[in-house]
Amino acid sequence: MKNILLVDDDKDLSQSLANLFDPEKFRFDFLEDGLEVGEYVREHEDVDLVMLDVNLPSLSGLDVLRQIKQIKSDLPVIIISGFVSTENAIEAMREGAFEYLTKPFEIQKLIDMVNKACGYSAKPRVVEGPVDLVEHEVGEIIGQSAEIVEIAKLIGQVAKSDAAVLIFGESGTGKELVARAIHRNSNRRNNAFLSVNCAALPETLLESELFGHEKGAFTGAYFKRIGKFEQAHQGTLFLDEIGDMSMLTQSKLLRVLQEKQFERVGGNETISTDVRIIAATNKSLVQCMKDGSFRVDLFYRLKVVSIYIPPLRERKSDVALLVDHFIKRFAKQLQVSPKKVSKQAMQVLNKYTWPGNVRELENNLHTAMVMSKSDTLQPEDFPIYSEGSSKLDLDLDVLKDDYTETFMKIIDPIMPKLIASSPGQIFQFLESAFERAVISSCLKHFDGNQVKTSETLGISRNTLRDRIARYDLY
Ligand SMILES: Nc1ncnc2c1ncn2[C@@H]1O[C@H](COP(=O)(O)OP(=O)(O)OP(=O)(O)O)[C@@H](O)[C@H]1O
Ligand SMILES: [Mg+2]
Repeated sequence: MKNILLVDDDKDLSQSLANLFDPEKFRFDFLEDGLEVGEYVREHEDVDLVMLDVNLPSLSGLDVLRQIKQIKSDLPVIIISGFVSTENAIEAMREGAFEYLTKPFEIQKLIDMVNKACGYSAKPRVVEGPVDLVEHEVGEIIGQSAEIVEIAKLIGQVAKSDAAVLIFGESGTGKELVARAIHRNSNRRNNAFLSVNCAALPETLLESELFGHEKGAFTGAYFKRIGKFEQAHQGTLFLDEIGDMSMLTQSKLLRVLQEKQFERVGGNETISTDVRIIAATNKSLVQCMKDGSFRVDLFYRLKVVSIYIPPLRERKSDVALLVDHFIKRFAKQLQVSPKKVSKQAMQVLNKYTWPGNVRELENNLHTAMVMSKSDTLQPEDFPIYSEGSSKLDLDLDVLKDDYTETFMKIIDPIMPKLIASSPGQIFQFLESAFERAVISSCLKHFDGNQVKTSETLGISRNTLRDRIARYDLY
């Protein structure tokens, strides 16, 4: 028999959750507030699992989690949240939650998770959830796709350790954002987070940037310089575009990682440093190792933990949330009120493949917010639309598609009836039916806007007005 404590201010929900479980295997206790949880855990040594709602009346679920962990660090805790928040997911995992789950969840997932936490079985879990718009913090990772939630959980799990992390993903996917989130959630958060772009500097300058140099170390070295490895002492150093680092610099970096020691360029003094390394690349390091341009030993040192950020086109469910986020951010920045996005514009944004990922989306919203004069953004307000490039795979497919077959499926069954009832008028009859359907559909699409409908269909406004009257389409 396993004892579970369920903490949720919704009594009915708690009871129905408990009813999902086999009473021969699980016994439930309930609390509606976080305040009593500490005492409960102290008094009940036999409790096997705590399930905690994030939103509790007096204490937040995350505070309760911290309390529980102080009293009994190995007691598994499942955090249940009403909405997806990557910050909550990161924090929950960082504070040692067994799992982070968002409502509404699949019942089977919860059951598997509880079984696993209680040592009954070992099925892994997946997190899913709907959107609920909340105010976001600066630097927060926005997203609700399963991929993003998994990344948030991983950040929470690795943040507290000093393990080197390798982040990879296409340009603009948010690699630096993730690196900063790791630092912000680590014990080093009050010390420096420094970033070096390894692709931007030639070899000697990069080395001096990283390790510093002594006066006179090379032509132009008029002063002694302290490098990033010294400046970031007890902090985090973010090495961006690590795939572009030269082999020589790589070997020096490897030594710092192994021995936590280095010398300034042109110097003899050995300097010790305590720096956490997070590296990022949009190149395939595996390919670089095959080409011989990246050291295999360094690769394994850097990727103690690796985080892959999938391109935006593979997690389209994040687009709407990001759009909303950037609109609010730019509205604040530009001191205007947030704009809405028309249905068509949203379709365009959803269809686009975003080769430049979140950064490209961000830039498009910036331009649209600056340029648009109306309070609703339209497709033409976005650079991706006006550039009209081939990347924009709009509904041009419609033109290529052959709809004859589709229409025949409708006409074939009614043809015998038409022949019987209206010989000599069938063509005219079908033509008006078709015309009426097309105009109705387009009007509906543009919320009854006649200018847009006539322009889009390619008929004059007079013709449109005439047809609306004829077919009674008001
Ligand atoms: N999930 C996200 N939520 C909110 N903002 C995001 C997200 N992902 C990326 N961004 C924003 O998109 C821009 C690009 O992100 P970032 O610089 O972290 O990407 P990157 O992977 O380092 O790109 P590059 O390879 O071009 O350096 C930044 O302004 C960042 O704040
Ligand atoms: Mg970057």
